[in-house]
Amino acid sequence: MTIIPVDIAGRPYEVRIGSGLLADLAGQCGKRLRKTRVPIVTDVNVHAAWGAVVEASLAAAGHVAVWRVLPPGEASKSWSELWATVDWLLAEEIERGDHILALGGGVIGDLTGFAAAILKRGCHFIQLPTSLLAQVDSSVGGKTAINAAAGKNLVGAFHQPALVLADLDALGTLPARELAAGYAEVVKYGLIGDAGFFDWCERHGSAVIAGDEQARAHAVATSVAAKARIVAEDERETTGRRALLNLGHTFGHALEAETGFSDRLLHGEAVALGMVLAARYSARTGLLRGQEAERIAGHIASVGLPAKLSALALDCDGATLTAHMLHDKKMDAGTLPFLLMRGIGETVLARDVALDDVTAFLDNELAG
Ligand code: GLY
Repeated sequence: MTIIPVDIAGRPYEVRIGSGLLADLAGQCGKRLRKTRVPIVTDVNVHAAWGAVVEASLAAAGHVAVWRVLPPGEASKSWSELWATVDWLLAEEIERGDHILALGGGVIGDLTGFAAAILKRGCHFIQLPTSLLAQVDSSVGGKTAINAAAGKNLVGAFHQPALVLADLDALGTLPARELAAGYAEVVKYGLIGDAGFFDWCERHGSAVIAGDEQARAHAVATSVAAKARIVAEDERETTGRRALLNLGHTFGHALEAETGFSDRLLHGEAVALGMVLAARYSARTGLLRGQEAERIAGHIASVGLPAKLSALALDCDGATLTAHMLHDKKMDAGTLPFLLMRGIGETVLARDVALDDVTAFLDNELAG
């Protein structure tokens, strides 16, 4: 097991990465489980795959799992599910010193974390991320949220978990497409600050996706260590450091909005293509060498992720995509900061990008 500390001032916690952590859930949580009944929020698919393992571990230590099992998918990050989840926790008589468990991917972690943030002005929660995306990104760092009619993740809070248990065994039950989509966030850590890790991704990315245990352990641990460093420096995204974690997300968000946040383009796939577009746009402005942009695109394509905007066959123009960007929650005083690349491992925040130029660039990319 690898243990990565997240040194948030006053609220430090550990991310533990390894095999068999869910089977040893009670042991891993230890005294954090103060009562017989242990409240766990999950979704139908994760419950089917891991519910019995979790129940057995808790039962062996004298606990009873009490479940709130939600439908899978983004629709669960809603006001109505938040309301119902908070009411359920109140009915379970959860106290502030108790720990609520979030077993699942990003949707479950975000919803449960937000419920924990507002219940009795803040209860503890433990992240048990089961998707690659949640293990390397969303379970660490305390961003919690639900979606609003006006957009994704617009209502939420920073609320750090008390512990994160990233069980690598859970990746074995993920659909291949979801695994590849999560891998985009792994590549992101190489691109934002670690050229050596990007080299490693080029050599081992396919093995991570195919199921090589050592490669998975290295990918998750390196990603979490990078995220932990950034979050410890800039928990609330105020200095610009944490904003680096949004590489590819502005272009990606526009693509997700245009495809209706649907299965046509998963979040991680949109981030993958978004990072390629950020690289190509950086090359267009002269910041990045064209060769490096194509090297990034080549790696993304080599693991089966989308690397060509024209291949999506969207029925829209560049202006439609930039209009989606204007609804991005990173908009600041009428301007949209963009993350661009100076080199592989060197991402920078640019506040002076002309949206007209982005529109012209996207028109070219849409045409192929
Ligand atoms: N997923 C971006 C962040 O946690 O800041």
